[in-house]
Amino acid sequence: MDLRFQRGPSGEWKASVVLAFAFKGEDIRKQAQALIDVAPWLDIAPALNDFTGAAGETGVLYGHPKIAIPRIILCGLGERESYTVETLRKSVAAAMQKCRELKLETVGIDVQTLAGLPGDAARNVEEAVVSAYLPLYTYERFRTTRKEPLFTPSWISLFFAEDIDSTLRDAARRGESAAAGIFLTRDLVNGPANLVTPSFLEEQARKLAARYGFTVRSMTRQEIAAAGMGAFESVFKGAVEDARLLAIEYCPRGMEKEQPLVFVGKGVTFDTGGISLKPSANMGDMKSDMGGAGAIFGLFETIGQMGGQAGAASAGFTRRVIGVMPCTENMPDGQATRPGDVVTSLSGQTIEIINTDAEGRLILCDAMTWAQREYDPAVMVDLATLTGACLIALGTDVAAVFATDDALAETVRTRGGDVGDLYWRLPLWDRYFEDLKSDVADMKNVGGREGGTINAALFLKQFVDEGRRWAHLDIAGPAYRNKKSPLCPFGATGFAVRTLMQLALHGVPEPSGD
Ligand code: BES
Ligand code: ZN
Ligand code: ZN
Repeated sequence: MDLRFQRGPSGEWKASVVLAFAFKGEDIRKQAQALIDVAPWLDIAPALNDFTGAAGETGVLYGHPKIAIPRIILCGLGERESYTVETLRKSVAAAMQKCRELKLETVGIDVQTLAGLPGDAARNVEEAVVSAYLPLYTYERFRTTRKEPLFTPSWISLFFAEDIDSTLRDAARRGESAAAGIFLTRDLVNGPANLVTPSFLEEQARKLAARYGFTVRSMTRQEIAAAGMGAFESVFKGAVEDARLLAIEYCPRGMEKEQPLVFVGKGVTFDTGGISLKPSANMGDMKSDMGGAGAIFGLFETIGQMGGQAGAASAGFTRRVIGVMPCTENMPDGQATRPGDVVTSLSGQTIEIINTDAEGRLILCDAMTWAQREYDPAVMVDLATLTGACLIALGTDVAAVFATDDALAETVRTRGGDVGDLYWRLPLWDRYFEDLKSDVADMKNVGGREGGTINAALFLKQFVDEGRRWAHLDIAGPAYRNKKSPLCPFGATGFAVRTLMQLALHGVPEPSGD
């Protein structure tokens, strides 16, 4: 579905349908009045009477099929007082589902009505556009029997009665690019592990680099082991599939010497648990254990769509951004790591591996040490489908954020929340490290069941340089879900792509001396 812009008097706009937004309890006819130029018949449309404006409600009104805009979908927003941008997202999503159902070829939205909703106009436009795309996602790659793919409109157009406002146009483009990034992430995370292997991810990184001008670095299992990443090595030892440490870089011109924003994403393409084998029920969902790395791919697709190495800076991506992705399977085999084994990490610290299913932290700790040595990040943020305990603590919709300073934690929470990625902060207190003390090594890779999400974060903290600004996002809940939501069908969600985009666009303010 393309994004278009039409400029001119409303009588000249063209589309199979135009969306109109209405609040509950207010005169629907009056709210739709703005569209009467577009569809004069609306004035006398009787079906208006049945539409209440409840949040997520849609009502389809028909004019004569020959006129330029032969139908209107009324989109309910609920009560004005309880309106948030989330209401708008769900409302647009419901309307687009309707467009899919009715096989409407082209969809228009009057920018004026979006800009007139409560809140910031550009934000409403960005959220409306991203929410038009997201619900239409499907994963079709391995379907051979579906006669035709699910219908998707060929374009969505924003109607401007006067000159095209460049701020609103840019906001719309951001929404479109974010959706493209999220679609890539969903494809990679939904992709089965026999397709999405570490070497497949390398290929993806190289494709992004070739298309958008990024630079890529890649290390094989021999190189990772030779570099001294004993913790990472302990995870891929039981796998036949070759592992990779990938790095992808976006560097706007003149920023080569700047300290970058570095994202480190867990890329376990399949997590069997290793010798500490997982139970077989739902084990297939563990193809999604590369959701952290997947979100980084989505971010780079978004930056690419916004102009890539050559042009994204003028769209606001003015910071140097690097994604580091340790990618491997976690498999049981004759060569696999045994519980009780002790390994030496790249940092020199030794780890007693009590449970081979706590593998994410083992690949991340070495990747973080490597990232700090190679790139000296201004801020480092790792993200990972790290612990089942996080689902127990926060449920399926919310991710945990940990950070070395309040400003960073607050930035993730608010910037993420603004785009619908919800985070709740958990503590990084050193007392939790008590659980990780080992009798034979510097630390164990697991503590008890209690506080499992925090223990994992404390483990990672041992690998963060003194004074380095670092945040850890545990996205185990929201990255992949076995239930539908308005903006996302079953499976991979693309969670965190937009959070990373927000951090890349707006940066992170300096800590306020806490
Ligand atoms: N990949 C899992 C975490 C996970 C669980 C992600 C459910 C998404 C949904 C991780 O590698 C893991 O297995 N963690 C263990 C840690 C435990 C052994 C300390 C867990 O959460 O059970
Ligand atoms: Zn695991
Ligand atoms: Zn895992």
